[in-house]
Amino acid sequence: MRVIVLGTAAGGGVPQWNCACPTCEAVRAGAAPARSQDCLAISADGRNFHLLNASPDIRTQLTSCAALAPGPGARQTPLRGVLLTDGELDHTLGLFQLKEAAGLRVWAPDAVANTVPAREIAGRYHGWQWPELESEFEFDGLRVTVFPVSDKQPKYAAESTLPGPWVVAYRIEDPATGGSLVYAPCVAQWPAGFEDFCAGASCALLDGSFYAPDEMADATGGGVGSGAQLAMGHLPMAGEHGSLARIRRSPGTRWLYTHLNNTNPVLDPVSPEHAELVAAGAELPVDGMELVL
Ligand code: MLT
Ligand code: MN
Ligand code: ZN
Repeated sequence: MRVIVLGTAAGGGVPQWNCACPTCEAVRAGAAPARSQDCLAISADGRNFHLLNASPDIRTQLTSCAALAPGPGARQTPLRGVLLTDGELDHTLGLFQLKEAAGLRVWAPDAVANTVPAREIAGRYHGWQWPELESEFEFDGLRVTVFPVSDKQPKYAAESTLPGPWVVAYRIEDPATGGSLVYAPCVAQWPAGFEDFCAGASCALLDGSFYAPDEMADATGGGVGSGAQLAMGHLPMAGEHGSLARIRRSPGTRWLYTHLNNTNPVLDPVSPEHAELVAAGAELPVDGMELVL
């Protein structure tokens, strides 16, 4: 299985257009790599690809990736479909930009499939299929297992009474190679049973939004308070219940962080927080990185 890490940032990207926090300024100065919003492309055969999430940066992500170039037919594309982990705008706005594509299949938790604006609007351009999300299914020779993560609803769907899950993680296995990938970019708390879901995975991409519980308030001089960060619901890396502590206890899997918020000090490669991440055995992938699993 080929995995192309198209983007690794949380909503807004790094740098974020309206943010002058220390990390965004350091990236503008060239001290750390810029990052687009999190999204993956996966393929069993290197010719047919599916996206995991459709970021607002999808057009640039697709046009800068040779494996996803169209051809040889005038309107042939290797892109076959999209798996959504949730309905957040940062994971679904890219669907609007895929409106030129006919015949895509889009998998999403039921609540998301029934509320995400792109289904109604982009669906008027080309008929896409929205298969029901079974807990296990297959496509293109890959085996998918779905893990319900939480009932966190996007702001635009805050009034919805549809039952969850609103957020899921995917485990994708290639039976031909034995390789497996977990994608979990939106994790508010370490979910019960998540260790077992990840057990034996070759590689897991995990929510790396925040290093510390109060980081948005600190990085913005209090301009963005800790209430806003808490409401976003992302498990911080630090602390005895943080994700780094979990990673230290699960050395069998290659752990990579994604959905990195621009306030996260680990983005600075010479920070002590970055050193702690590396010491825990975790990695920060850069945009464009490829994995063969
Ligand atoms: C999140 O990851 O928590 C969301 O993208 C935040 C939001 O846009 O409301
Ligand atoms: Mn997000
Ligand atoms: Zn910033």
